[in-house]
Amino acid sequence: MTKTIKVFAPGKLMLMGEHAVVYGYPCISFAVDKGVTVELSKGLKADKVTSSVSDDRFINAAKGVFFQEYVCRRKPLEFLIKSEISGYGLGSSSAVTVATTFALFKLHGISASKRRIFNLSYKAVKNIQPKASGYDVATSIYGGIIVFNGKTKRVQKLGISDIPLLVGFSGAKADTAMMVEKVSAMRKKDPTKANRIFQDIGDLVSEGKDAILGKDWSRMGKIMNENQQLLSSLGVSTLSLDRMISASSEAGALGAKLSGAGGGDCMIALYKDSSKKDIEKALEKSGATLLPLRVSKEGVRAV
Ligand code: MEV
Repeated sequence: MTKTIKVFAPGKLMLMGEHAVVYGYPCISFAVDKGVTVELSKGLKADKVTSSVSDDRFINAAKGVFFQEYVCRRKPLEFLIKSEISGYGLGSSSAVTVATTFALFKLHGISASKRRIFNLSYKAVKNIQPKASGYDVATSIYGGIIVFNGKTKRVQKLGISDIPLLVGFSGAKADTAMMVEKVSAMRKKDPTKANRIFQDIGDLVSEGKDAILGKDWSRMGKIMNENQQLLSSLGVSTLSLDRMISASSEAGALGAKLSGAGGGDCMIALYKDSSKKDIEKALEKSGATLLPLRVSKEGVRAV
């Protein structure tokens, strides 16, 4: 009988600190309870990939990095990849990379620490997206809510998972690499302004960490609103994201902001129970598709 390895890697959402993390500042992100499943077995003649993720580059990059590091006797491999998260900015590329790397370790019977899985997966992602901070890779590996240090790539798990968040999809798929380039161009033009914004975002992230640890959601909401203003001044918000964010604030959200690169994808709104229904209605009215996502306490795992 051929051995089949099945692993699941969760997707992610950014809570705060996007863009600044690319320049070495910390960010806070969390794993979601939907993700990517990879089934891996030894193949017959040549490698075969059957995937619901249109972009095979990340699987190939993960394979490339793994076999560069481990000179295992290379047999044909069969990958079956299913994604529940493609097209929303929920980190399907990093989840595919993480799941593929983890599955390769398992199939070859090599035990690897989370840090080791991160190093290989991040190297693979960087081959395709050289400016990626790696926070999405780390989130998919560690699970839960994490503080990710953009400079050292260190991870701190906050041990909290019951954050009251609603997630609205704007209907537009963002091009992360393009948004990162846009911010880089803005920084070249006005480094003083850009660096001040990154510093302010970094400061907000440390305040946000304390608010989360103290479950002080009204403070966290204010911090998220400030983070959104800073992202707007970086030029990465859009009319439809702004509309969804204002709609949720008017309906009683404690705070709301875009999540990720901007230019589309998702926004998040922090609610108190009494206004949850009103915010949901307001979000739908403003054109958002509500995504029923929760924090996943666990990261990549065998299933
Ligand atoms: C995109 O989800 C978040 C960015 O900070 C890019 C990155 O961290 O790699 C814009």
